[in-house]
Amino acid sequence: MKILGIEHIGIAVKDLDTSSPFWSHILNLQHKGKETVQDQGVLTDIYDTTQGKVELLQSLGEDTPIGKFLLKKGPGVHHVCFEVDDINKAIKELKELNIQVLSDTPTVGAEGYKVIFIHPKSSGGVLVELAEKP
Ligand code: CO
Repeated sequence: MKILGIEHIGIAVKDLDTSSPFWSHILNLQHKGKETVQDQGVLTDIYDTTQGKVELLQSLGEDTPIGKFLLKKGPGVHHVCFEVDDINKAIKELKELNIQVLSDTPTVGAEGYKVIFIHPKSSGGVLVELAEKP
């Protein structure tokens, strides 16, 4: 697989209204947009450094991946996302290498990217997302 760069860092927040001003007004990052990703039970709010983005993640309920993460660990870094040239090729290679991926096929994430997640057990404790640009 070919990694093209860090696409974004995913950060779990309790409340976008209180968390987003740091990224928008203190770091002055360009706002890309807010989007609900029903599949993952999350409201995303994305900021762009032009060399990798920050993806704020507010859960849509306690029984969602971000809701559970917040209950267990509280707000903070949730995952790191790398852009890949070919997501299906990446999944195939990872499976051949016995790396645990959370789904067999990509799902559509924020901004229309095709995404998969690698289990933290396979990566030394970091939830890794791979994404292919739409
Ligand atoms: Co992400």
